[in-house]
Amino acid sequence: MDLLLLVLLGFWLMLPSFLPNSAAVVFGGGLPVDMGRSWRGKRLLGDGKTWRGLIGGICAGISLGIIQLYLAFPFDRLDFFGFGSFPTNLVVVIVLAVGSLAGDMVGSMIKRRLNIGRGNKAPLIDQYNFLLGSILLVLLLFPDWFLDNFWRNDGWVSLLAVLLITPILHRGVNIIGYKLGLKKVPW
Ligand code: CTP
Ligand code: MG
Repeated sequence: MDLLLLVLLGFWLMLPSFLPNSAAVVFGGGLPVDMGRSWRGKRLLGDGKTWRGLIGGICAGISLGIIQLYLAFPFDRLDFFGFGSFPTNLVVVIVLAVGSLAGDMVGSMIKRRLNIGRGNKAPLIDQYNFLLGSILLVLLLFPDWFLDNFWRNDGWVSLLAVLLITPILHRGVNIIGYKLGLKKVPW
């Protein structure tokens, strides 16, 4: 497969991981996931992780994934997500969406432990928490799906592209969110 196609495929497959992060900003607000609880004098997760953001974000990612399953990979005649039957592919999509916001919460938990306030910058953690969450969870539950698409043959090229481009994309999307008044800070 040529390079551009591998890059597009990587992002296509990871869309159910990307969307929940932005959707959480739109749906977010209200009751925090940690219910305001603290641990050793610091908030467990903080006010930036809410139930509405979590559930809305996951539902958005799954919905997009279902649309993708019907479209298949539009740039080539490939039947991606291409992992077994529809129910199995659907579970992969769910795992990607859940893993994304689970990773996001682990990131916030680490930030709070490091004494970094809610919304304050944490390089690498902010850019990669959701992606790592999805990758680790899907590796655990569907290792062949991940390895076939993101490692074996030319798959590692897709992985490398996603890892290199994500911080740029993350920054771009956050600047848009800030300009639209959805986010308080442009990062
Ligand atoms: N958000 C939410 N629920 C989530 C994730 C995000 O409500 N599970 C919303 C919050 O309004 C949050 C915004 O999306 O402020 C941006 O998300 P993020 O940058 O992940 O949170 P931060 O506010 O930066 O908090 P943290 O420092 O914990 O990352
Ligand atoms: Mg943030």
